[in-house]
Amino acid sequence: MNQKFYVTTPIYYATARPHLGTLYSTVLADIARRWEEQKGTDTFLLTGTDEHGQKIATAAEKAHKDPKSFVDGFIGNYQDVWTQYGIHYNRFIRTTDRYHVTAIQQWLKQLIEQGDIYKGSYEGWYCVPCETYITESASKDPVCPSCGRETKFISEESYFFKLSAYQGRLLAFYEQHPDIITPRERAAEVISFVKGGLKDLSISRTTISWGIPFPGDEQHVTYVWADALNNYITGVGYGDPHRQDEFNRWWPADLHVLGKDIVRFHAVYWPAFLMASGLSLPKRLLVHGWIKMGDQKMSKSLGNAIDPITLGKTYGPDVVRFYLAKHIAVSHDGHFSTESLEHVATSELANELGNLLNRIGVLAHKYGVHEVPADMIWEAQELALRDQCWTMLDDFEVYMDDNSYHMALSVLWKFINQVNAYFHECEPWRVAKDDLTRFTHIIAATAHSLYAIAHCLWPVMPNKMEQLLDALGCTRDSGVDYLTALKEDGWTHRLLIKQSEPLFIKYEQRKPVSDQTQKKQDHVQSASHITIDDVVKLELHVGTIQVCEPLEGSDKLYRLEVDFGNAIGTRQIVAGVKQYFVPNDLIGKQGVFVTNLKPRKMMGIASQGMMLFAKDSDGQFVITTVDKIVPNGTRLQ
Ligand code: MSP
Repeated sequence: MNQKFYVTTPIYYATARPHLGTLYSTVLADIARRWEEQKGTDTFLLTGTDEHGQKIATAAEKAHKDPKSFVDGFIGNYQDVWTQYGIHYNRFIRTTDRYHVTAIQQWLKQLIEQGDIYKGSYEGWYCVPCETYITESASKDPVCPSCGRETKFISEESYFFKLSAYQGRLLAFYEQHPDIITPRERAAEVISFVKGGLKDLSISRTTISWGIPFPGDEQHVTYVWADALNNYITGVGYGDPHRQDEFNRWWPADLHVLGKDIVRFHAVYWPAFLMASGLSLPKRLLVHGWIKMGDQKMSKSLGNAIDPITLGKTYGPDVVRFYLAKHIAVSHDGHFSTESLEHVATSELANELGNLLNRIGVLAHKYGVHEVPADMIWEAQELALRDQCWTMLDDFEVYMDDNSYHMALSVLWKFINQVNAYFHECEPWRVAKDDLTRFTHIIAATAHSLYAIAHCLWPVMPNKMEQLLDALGCTRDSGVDYLTALKEDGWTHRLLIKQSEPLFIKYEQRKPVSDQTQKKQDHVQSASHITIDDVVKLELHVGTIQVCEPLEGSDKLYRLEVDFGNAIGTRQIVAGVKQYFVPNDLIGKQGVFVTNLKPRKMMGIASQGMMLFAKDSDGQFVITTVDKIVPNGTRLQ
């Protein structure tokens, strides 16, 4: 039997349609699943909706609906968005599903019988939007430490889960599994919370009725998080004797994907519940940051949410998936703007990747080359490119296995740029005229590179990459270990070169200039005219950033190593853009640099040039680059 991989998304509160933030969690889980599929692993992706609790009851009341018909109204929206974005889920669980409700009641009975749940009374603050009891010392302050909204004082009889009894086992578990929570910084917060002492957790409510009835005491309904977290086991058959094999096959989860706002539930309460149930613990929690609009988290309630359906229709779901994976570092909060999405779609997807396929298609057909024969004998330049491909695959695998998708994609993009540089240097359009054998080699090596790129990118852009593979005369089959095949691929198999539609669209980046702005610009321009002699003095060169690392002791500066080709060599350049980019946004990128600026020292480091950036309307820096990849060291004129 193949290896297995079980991945989950959080289950979403069914109070509104999905937005870009909720799509983000789900896309990350789908990428993780598809990456495992590329290794030939059997996978299971569970997603669904969280449908009980006061938050839902209140929202339904506002909408003048009963809670069940209220939540029913959103299920189709979730399923449609996931389908639109190619999210292959194996089960969509709803916490109102009969099998889930029955399993939760059995689970509660077991814990009551074994003494892990007891009856008491609860007095304290409660945050309805987060469905959370406020346990910190801040509990005298009626503001939720997590979302900043007002909390409610509640006083009621309640059943408690003996969380305090699990403090030692939890701490031992974190120590034995230091990689359970990624990124690791999140683990430190959890450990310090647990070390600070755990109070028993109230897991029932008497003041609301919209929830799973508590077994044996129907005055109480189950606390929504005790109900919701268990979806990860009931979704694969826990508690159903007919689904025992399914449960044994998939549990424990290999990966839970979740946002940073719900770490405590997943890293403290959930393992403690599982310990009490005698079940194995999940292998890894991938905790991602938030998508922000300005300074705020994107959310329906704040009214700043972006509708994924419209976005997907405008730009294509795969382009949005790519943007989320490459341009938002999983471990950090990220900003989203359509301007930046269009920029990425144009420069990286259309110019750097799509154009490569177009160019070999058009050229190959012009000179009658329709296929790449098997067993070609490669020359030195192609062997070097193949080595770069293998190096990329090794690094790509490490980052993908670590769920560092933005890093993996940076490594892949560096290779895409290497292929572009190879293609450009080889000048196949010139070679074709007098050496068709050499021309075929260049087309073939580029096609093999694109084949590897397509498989690497398939977890992120499945539809587009299937189109790319089709253009190379290949199909993708499930159950195949493509990763191993790629790492052992000596570029010996046959490929076709089909002419196909462009994979990606370019977007016009310039905005129309209003009359007034034009007048202002005319004024500024006339006041600061320079002559051609001034222009000639300025040496602007294109270079590729090879290294980008924070400069110790500075909040703003990065140290870059930039490759300017043979004539200029590699230069060290200091750039004050740390607050706008993570290193992997820059590594592998071609940019424009002033290369004859007098060298100067910044924080004790010599800077031998200056990188140029543009500032967009959100105040974000954007890299200044050229429309197509050109050899490093090319001078702007
Ligand atoms: N129902 C709970 C989860 C229970 S899991 C057993 C819940 N639901 S939620 O709908 O509020 O959020 C679901 C997920 O979406 C969380 O991981 C949350 O972090 C994520 N996101 C919601 N808004 C987001 C952004 N703006 N950006 C990134 N992720 C966001 O919590």
